[in-house]
Amino acid sequence: MPAGSNAYNSLWQVRNDAWSTLEELTAQLALACAQQRPVGPLTDTVAEALNILAPIERFWAFPGLPAFFKMRRLFTTGKYDRCATRVARINRSLATDSYRADQTWDADAEDDAYDHEPSQADQASARPTRPYFEVLVVEDMTEDQERALREEFRRWRRPDDQFVYEIVVVPSFDDALMAARLNFRLQACVVRRRFAHRSRNDTSSLRQFVSLLGSDDLMDHPPDERAQVLARALARIRPELDLYLMTEIAVEDLAGRLSHHFRRIFHTREGSLELHLSILDGIAARYRAPFFSALRSYSHRPTGVFHALPVSHGKSIVNSHWIRDMVDFYGLEIFLAETSATCGGLDSLLEPTGPLREAQELAAQTFGSRRTYFVTNGTSTANKIVVQALVRPGDIVLVDRNCHQSHHYGLMLAGAMVAYLDAYRLNPYSMYGAVPLTEIKSQLLALRRAGKLDRVKMLLLTNCTFDGIVYDVQRVMQECLAIKPDLIFLWDEAWFAFARFHPVYRPRTAMRAARTLAELLRQPDHKTSYDAQIEAIGAVDAADDEVLLSRRLLPDPARARIRVYATQSTHKTLTSLRQGSMIHVWDQDFGQKVEDTLHEAYMTHTSTSPNYQILASLDLGRRQAALEGFELVQKQIENAMRLRDAVDHHPLLSKYMRCLSTADLIPAEYRPSGIDQPLRSGLPNMIHVWDTDEFVLDPSRVTIYIGNTGIEGDSFKRQQLMDRYGVQINKTSRNTVLFMTTIGTTRSSVAYLIEVLVTIARELEAQLGDMSPAERAAHERAVLRLCNPSAPLPDFSGFHPSFTDSRGQPTSEGDVRRAFYLAYNDSYCEYLMPDEVEQRVEAGEQVVSTTYVTPYPPGFPVLVPGQVFSPQILAFMRSLDTPEVHGYRADLGYRVYLDKALEIAATTRPAPPPDSAGPTADPAADPPGGTT
Ligand SMILES: Cc1ncc(COP(=O)(O)O)c(C=O)c1O
Repeated sequence: MPAGSNAYNSLWQVRNDAWSTLEELTAQLALACAQQRPVGPLTDTVAEALNILAPIERFWAFPGLPAFFKMRRLFTTGKYDRCATRVARINRSLATDSYRADQTWDADAEDDAYDHEPSQADQASARPTRPYFEVLVVEDMTEDQERALREEFRRWRRPDDQFVYEIVVVPSFDDALMAARLNFRLQACVVRRRFAHRSRNDTSSLRQFVSLLGSDDLMDHPPDERAQVLARALARIRPELDLYLMTEIAVEDLAGRLSHHFRRIFHTREGSLELHLSILDGIAARYRAPFFSALRSYSHRPTGVFHALPVSHGKSIVNSHWIRDMVDFYGLEIFLAETSATCGGLDSLLEPTGPLREAQELAAQTFGSRRTYFVTNGTSTANKIVVQALVRPGDIVLVDRNCHQSHHYGLMLAGAMVAYLDAYRLNPYSMYGAVPLTEIKSQLLALRRAGKLDRVKMLLLTNCTFDGIVYDVQRVMQECLAIKPDLIFLWDEAWFAFARFHPVYRPRTAMRAARTLAELLRQPDHKTSYDAQIEAIGAVDAADDEVLLSRRLLPDPARARIRVYATQSTHKTLTSLRQGSMIHVWDQDFGQKVEDTLHEAYMTHTSTSPNYQILASLDLGRRQAALEGFELVQKQIENAMRLRDAVDHHPLLSKYMRCLSTADLIPAEYRPSGIDQPLRSGLPNMIHVWDTDEFVLDPSRVTIYIGNTGIEGDSFKRQQLMDRYGVQINKTSRNTVLFMTTIGTTRSSVAYLIEVLVTIARELEAQLGDMSPAERAAHERAVLRLCNPSAPLPDFSGFHPSFTDSRGQPTSEGDVRRAFYLAYNDSYCEYLMPDEVEQRVEAGEQVVSTTYVTPYPPGFPVLVPGQVFSPQILAFMRSLDTPEVHGYRADLGYRVYLDKALEIAATTRPAPPPDSAGPTADPAADPPGGTT
């Protein structure tokens, strides 16, 4: 690897840079040779670049090892001119992706296809016609056998094939894992019976980028099972890959045993045609976008519309004299695709039976859920649907107080008793982190002590948080299920839909963690460990709180039910039109009853005229994620790391700005690995940290600390980034700005951002130079104010007793719905200016908010209906200088309850729900520890 390759986050970067360097060097070499200048030092550097590429190229079909070796031979035999032409052509094909379209290249060809510049006609004909992908073949074979196999697959190509592919042959288990990790063009893998365990090549230089974790267990298996072990390992890294097995032994027997690992199993002697057709068919299955296709064909049919929607087929627009610019701007297609029809090949979102149903089933496969629902009004609505479906009035829900407003409103509408959880605080940046597991367990145990555990229905957390803090999802669920075996989890993954497509992120997603946990609970090993736990601490139900808080708990495999829901704003991190979201379900008790309540909730919140364009974009976004999610997410992370490196290593920028690292955003107590900057120290380190730490940081979200600029976060966003440079960002705190990278982020957009930040820093530098002593002192005061913590972020102060459950021991949950609606009666409320509230609080009175009070930023409700004011809340509000505080009127102050309202509330408490079984227990559902 190149000197300083630690700076690289992926081998693709190394490879791209090595090819570009090689192009430059071989061109210089050819020139020097033509001019008969000495070439000695240049040949050394070319050799170095070739050495970097040699261990990498074997994982890609283009240009392919034979072509690479031929190019190297040209160099070693002194044919520098031809070598340079070849390198230039390969590099350009790689840089522009034109090799995907140029289906005439042949890695094995002896001719000089690479020895001339492509003509314009060549370039024009090289435009992508049909999608290209690569297929990994795992078998130890000779070069001749490999060439023959490649030719055999090529012979099956037909002009009307929908796709075209090339094969990459690797000889060993290790090489197969590395190829799957590195080559994003792979879409399928054919495992043949004879393959080695270890790579014959020196893989040490690749260790920084790939981890071969799990490959050691291969030795423990007989040869027949190795294919299965490999299939499992590949599926862990790339679950979307279609796996095929080719074997010469009893296929029928293997098909019975291994068919769940492989898409198809073939007998070697039957040749490769069926395999070829299956490979194309597998890709076609993922490529299908049923709803998009249905909408497209519908849009091209002539229709007579005697229904609503005059814009349908552009009818009210194309003949208009005044709004024709609407068609000019949007194009006609979008109006052709506008229809209210639910038949004629289309479908109804509220009762899908056709292409929408299929589209949702495909999404379930791609996102690893058992059921997926499309939502056309964002995750704000998805969250309300899930909560309404599962929570009855009076059920207790544990929720991060710092969660999105849709949960606050959703829980209020559902009539839940809300128990707020406090996230850890990041006072220096005026931000919250995530909710520590001890806080969640403590609340559950407090409810247990109060005899209310049976009423606890759901735990609701945001993963990842806005700022990129990621939970150990499996561990949270595992430990909570040990205390409350039927707890339902709703993971708000509004910002995390992309995570499914990266092998390091995936285990921390709700759907994958649910599946892993269900599998774990069926393992005999788990039962043994659970029995050991009983031996050590007795049954969890009877154990002391301290004991339960101090150890990692295991759930009872006979009682725990895996009931997991995730809501994702597809539009935030993957391709979808705005508001496109999905609900993913992995619920062992998702029987008819839950399906019905979910349907009712869906009907409650969904328009009867859902937007077809959003639905079609969800369908296409799913197709893209299934076929190129892996590549796009990897590139997204690379771009984020480029941004981080550029800020932190720029001499001027780093004077004023700094990217906050894992160590800044996650206190050491939650990071047993002790590694401060996981990805920067190599992918295996990142894997280790993501495996072990309670919280990790999503590196694709870059929070930049700007305290030293003296400019407050919100002004930085509006006045500097947006107004002057058109850079859009979402979140700021007092002294930070958050830059999100997504699959849409390009290297050029990162470069532009850096340019803008450098310009801002330069201007600041110039302004500082011109400042008078008084101005400089004012600037220093501004810096000091931003760099010193403001008033500490307040914890949840508690509900007024009128809105809590008065029976038994007091616990923290409150009835937000009652507290919210009581305020509809104006005679129960009054407005108080902050000073008056302060005086009353100081005098020991309980002042109670009637509504949500949410300053932006930070954007979480400092007060919710029924919550009492505390000195910390008042101090915090006083310290804010944000212009926007939802629920507070600058002219009138806070809206609070009069005492008489609180007295009435105390005497009109509703009875708790009659039983705790809820609407969900369904005899038809899986038995405990049931199937996946
Ligand atoms: C954590 C979280 N959940 C839900 C939402 C709402 O998502 P949507 O904009 O798709 O309605 C947001 C929006 O910012 C969010 O941050």
